[in-house]
Amino acid sequence: LGLCLFSFVVGYLLGSIPFGLILTKLSGGGDVRKIGSGNIGATNVLRTGNKPLAALTLLLDVLKGTAAVLIGAQFGPAAAVAAGLGAFLGHLFPVWLGFRGGKGVATFIGVALGLYWPAAVAFCVVWLLVAVTTRYSSLSALVASAATVCAFAVTGRWWLAALFFVLTILLYVRHAANIERLMKGQETRIGQSKQGS
Ligand code: G3P
Repeated sequence: LGLCLFSFVVGYLLGSIPFGLILTKLSGGGDVRKIGSGNIGATNVLRTGNKPLAALTLLLDVLKGTAAVLIGAQFGPAAAVAAGLGAFLGHLFPVWLGFRGGKGVATFIGVALGLYWPAAVAFCVVWLLVAVTTRYSSLSALVASAATVCAFAVTGRWWLAALFFVLTILLYVRHAANIERLMKGQETRIGQSKQGS
């Protein structure tokens, strides 16, 4: 239990690094929380118009989840899961930002990548399919995360299915405003810079 707790804390600290916010500030793009959706994730960094920075945000937010899992895995499978959960919660609720963090999509992929990489591939395939057809980043993430839970379930990985079910619920909760905009037809599409335009 001690090692699980340690892994959870290490995961949390890694996950709580707000790469989107740090990178936009460092590149002179100001505070990403003041533009677009106000989120610190890659989708919103893209709205600053800096594509490489958005890609880097995505990569680092993915890798911090994977790194957490790989560190936890040194202490066994349960610690790997604890680290992954910690990283996800760290991204959503970072102590440094008054617990107001991101929506968890990239870190969700990173944790899946570390625990069972085919699930991360499944996520990306579904995300791309929905994104190409609808150009909604949020909708793509909502569909792909649910599909990832199914991917764990159909391969008989029940513990991971349970973990990712919880992560998906949290991801949906953090996308409440996006879901509302999607239902009103006001969600910003990928490539658009303003909400509802
Ligand atoms: O990565 C989060 C994405 O699903 C939605 O982001 O900025 O459009 O709220 P955003």
